[in-house]
Amino acid sequence: MIVAIDGPAAAGKGTLARRIAEALGYHHLDTGLLYRAVGILSEQRGVTPLQAAENLDPEDLKRPDLRGEAAGQLASKVGSIPEVRAALLDFQRRFARQAPGAVLDGRDIGTVICPDAEVKLFVTASVEKRAERRVKELLVKGESVIAERVLQDLKDRDARDSARDVAPMASASDAILLDTSDLDADAAFEAALSIVRNRITTP
Ligand code: DC
Repeated sequence: MIVAIDGPAAAGKGTLARRIAEALGYHHLDTGLLYRAVGILSEQRGVTPLQAAENLDPEDLKRPDLRGEAAGQLASKVGSIPEVRAALLDFQRRFARQAPGAVLDGRDIGTVICPDAEVKLFVTASVEKRAERRVKELLVKGESVIAERVLQDLKDRDARDSARDVAPMASASDAILLDTSDLDADAAFEAALSIVRNRITTP
């Protein structure tokens, strides 16, 4: 059983995916971490993004420095390299096949990685709402924030992720769209879980 969750940065898909996996007892993979780790490791080790992708160790995904916006921008850049995406494909597909099921979130899960996933969600929200949430998160962490910069970074990342030639961010034709602009985290989770349960019980 595979649940594919795609959508733009800061739409809340990572939190949703984690909570859905917990509720169903499934494995969860935040595939953004793969691209983040490739970006950071290639910079730090002075190797090409492809070399970093080919030598990626699952332990690398636990690095605390993967979470920030700098790593997100780097990830978006290395994610546009076709060979890097190809090098990360098998790991994602093997992860997805684990019993009793897996939830993967990213940009191309429903379209490229797991086109046969039983459930596909495309989680989105207006870029202004996403920027607003990101600013709040950063303030809670005690980081200094320039709101316009956060908004612009998200717009840049959306543009790059949607426009690339290989596996661009896109909603699969059979994905269910969930717009979280006017939902808080709990309401978004309830809505997503009910879509997923519905699909699982009535294939
Ligand atoms: O989901 P995230 O914000 O952690 O992702 C960071 C970047 O990684 C995103 O801007 C594009 C890239 N990415 C990708 O190309 N494909 C994925 N499946 C997940 C992330």
